[in-house]
Amino acid sequence: MKISIIYSSNTGNTKKIAEIIKKELDSEDIIYFGKVNEKIPDTDIYIIGSWTDKGNATTDIIEFIKKLRNKKIAFFGTAGYGKNTEYYKILFERVKAYIDPSNRILGYFYCQGKMPIQVKERYIQMITKNPKDTNLKVSIKNFDEALSHPNDKDLKNARQWIKNIIKSYKTS
Ligand SMILES: Cc1cc2nc3c(=O)[nH]c(=O)nc-3n(C[C@H](O)[C@H](O)[C@H](O)COP(=O)(O)O)c2cc1C
Repeated sequence: MKISIIYSSNTGNTKKIAEIIKKELDSEDIIYFGKVNEKIPDTDIYIIGSWTDKGNATTDIIEFIKKLRNKKIAFFGTAGYGKNTEYYKILFERVKAYIDPSNRILGYFYCQGKMPIQVKERYIQMITKNPKDTNLKVSIKNFDEALSHPNDKDLKNARQWIKNIIKSYKTS
């Protein structure tokens, strides 16, 4: 079994998930681990991760995914918004739209990831102008909750997720 793990990560959250996934797999199976570049080898399985940028995966990851044919693909992501499987489903549906039908999708995983402080500063500026804006209040609460993510539980869930993916791949 040959596996490539490819990810995009701006501030380290998605990289953390990528590293825990790498740790969970047999090291001799991992042929490539890193960002999108021209040296990515041809492997059976592609485990692809991205941070969420304005509601979608990053452009480098999307462009890479679009080119894949006849591969097994597992996708993982981090997003500022947490605890919302419906939202994660929507995010993955967007990624899925770029996957050619010749590929087999093995599954997907998302967890929350902390955001840069500038995001909160912007919310604070906005709420100063509109103190009654409940959406902004929710966003600020979410920002504060995100600060501890990815946490130990997220990492444990990611490990379990990839373990199950590989197990069902081997038995299918
Ligand atoms: C410019 C920018 C846009 C973002 N857009 C979204 C978004 O649309 N939805 C979301 O849930 N999180 C969004 N986030 C939050 C990031 O996806 C989240 O913090 C992620 O864990 C960052 O991963 P990284 O540390 O691997 O870069 C955004 C963050 C930034 C900086």
